Amino acid sequence: MMLSAAGVEGAARDARLLLAHALETDQAGLNARLDEPLKQSELFGMDRVVAARSLHQPVSHIIGKRGFWNHEFLVNSDVLDPRPDTETLVAAALEQPFERVLDLGTGSGAIILSLLAERPEARGLASDISDKALDMARRNAGRIGVAERVQFVVADWFAGLSGRFDLIVSNPPYIAQSEMPDLAPEVRDWEPHLALTPGGDGLAAYRILAAGLPDFLSPGGRAYFEIGHKQALDVSKIFINAGFNQPEVLSDMSGHDRVVAIGV
Ligand SMILES: C[S@@+](CC[C@H](N)C(=O)[O-])C[C@H]1O[C@@H](n2cnc3c(N)ncnc32)[C@H](O)[C@@H]1O
Repeated sequence: MMLSAAGVEGAARDARLLLAHALETDQAGLNARLDEPLKQSELFGMDRVVAARSLHQPVSHIIGKRGFWNHEFLVNSDVLDPRPDTETLVAAALEQPFERVLDLGTGSGAIILSLLAERPEARGLASDISDKALDMARRNAGRIGVAERVQFVVADWFAGLSGRFDLIVSNPPYIAQSEMPDLAPEVRDWEPHLALTPGGDGLAAYRILAAGLPDFLSPGGRAYFEIGHKQALDVSKIFINAGFNQPEVLSDMSGHDRVVAIGV
């Protein structure tokens, strides 16, 4: 009731997730307890999380985790919440073998850690300009059991990095500055702006990625970059102007353009 009144979309679903969190159980455990009265401490816990959600704090931030691909990732306001759309990139990258993967702007580590978990022989380098994001990615690497196969480095895109990779991936910030005010409050007010927008037309990161890619991609290697659903033409042009063949554009589960694939 309070969530609906605060304009929270999907209030009933969120209430169940928050109640399970407050009761320190899962959805099955919640079902088993539906007829039991809440203890005082549980009522306090529920009040606290409902108040947070009423301020449009994302459920993932309140419960501290978010499911992505085959794992649960720890998240907080230092990292972008991994999105289902980004699983399109992971699925495409897994279609062929790889040995060394570079993930630029790794955030929670969702992409590279999912890839490494699926390929036990592969190793990876994960970079981000945010050292707080990398702290979270390191914790996730430990939880997922791939920590010994991934290195983390603070870097401004390719600056200071070295080596060649047969797979390069990135989900860079791509929202245009002019679109920021229209975002849902859960995103605009709670997720790191550094992860959402590079400012301007939203394409700045692709220009840097296209210019740097030839120095880091192994011969015969592949690269996958997530894009905003209206950016396929502009991003393709950026890569073509940098000397690459016409990128392949892949759609997400909703049928929206979501990934450009280079060298596939
Ligand atoms: C859209 S988020 C993607 C996070 C994660 N890879 C995912 O898909 O959930 C973009 C990430 O790029 C990072 N980033 C922003 N500017 C950067 C820069 N100049 N160099 C490296 N990383 C940057 C942000 O800190 C953020 O973690």
